[in-house]
Amino acid sequence: MSAARRARLGVLVSGSGSNLQALLDACAQADFPAEVACVVSNVPTAFGLERARKAGVSAVALDHKAFGSRADFERALGETLRASGVEWVCLAGFMRLLSADFLAGFPGRVLNIHPALLPAFPGLHAQRQALERGVKITGCTVHFVDAGTDTGPIIAQAAVPVLPDDTEASLSARILAEEHRLYPLAVRLAVTGKVTLEGTRTRVDAQAAVGDQSLRSPGAPK
Ligand code: GRF
Repeated sequence: MSAARRARLGVLVSGSGSNLQALLDACAQADFPAEVACVVSNVPTAFGLERARKAGVSAVALDHKAFGSRADFERALGETLRASGVEWVCLAGFMRLLSADFLAGFPGRVLNIHPALLPAFPGLHAQRQALERGVKITGCTVHFVDAGTDTGPIIAQAAVPVLPDDTEASLSARILAEEHRLYPLAVRLAVTGKVTLEGTRTRVDAQAAVGDQSLRSPGAPK
């Protein structure tokens, strides 16, 4: 019997690529329904490219500064992804906004991970925003990408407490550990057709968790 067909992912990074690593590790499992077909970075020195090479995955640097316009950069990006047969695009710390034109090339198939419980704290420095605002619980979100900044329909979220002595670094590390669990889970749901877009929302066809489903900030009584 032939193995089930796996969805082809293109992962876009600008930096360390620890979320890319989580996706590569998930894809290394025989029963994961996707494979990383190519990794592209707009930052030629991004460590994410190194991770891709190590995993034997095509790693392409496309320095946005070398292009005359956003449209030219995005055209090259789209061509690179299509040349690898990419069906789904996963942004993983990719620090460029993508235009509606680019997104139209992969309709409903571009995902992003953000280190906050959207719609709270979109944009840069989400962890710092959470600390400054004094929230007691924050987390991460995987969502479909639209032309706004972190505004697309939400697929999955994970929450973590904000502790009294947290720094931006300690909070970021706690969130990142959840990101590495959540992104593969959300990709699995999306590529297996368990996520349906319904306007600004999604419906996720996943088994409901049983038992106590409430989350309380540290110090709150049960
Ligand atoms: C993560 O916190 C992600 O949520 C945000 O950028 C960071 C990327 O980290 N979009 P890494 O490059 O995956 O380690």
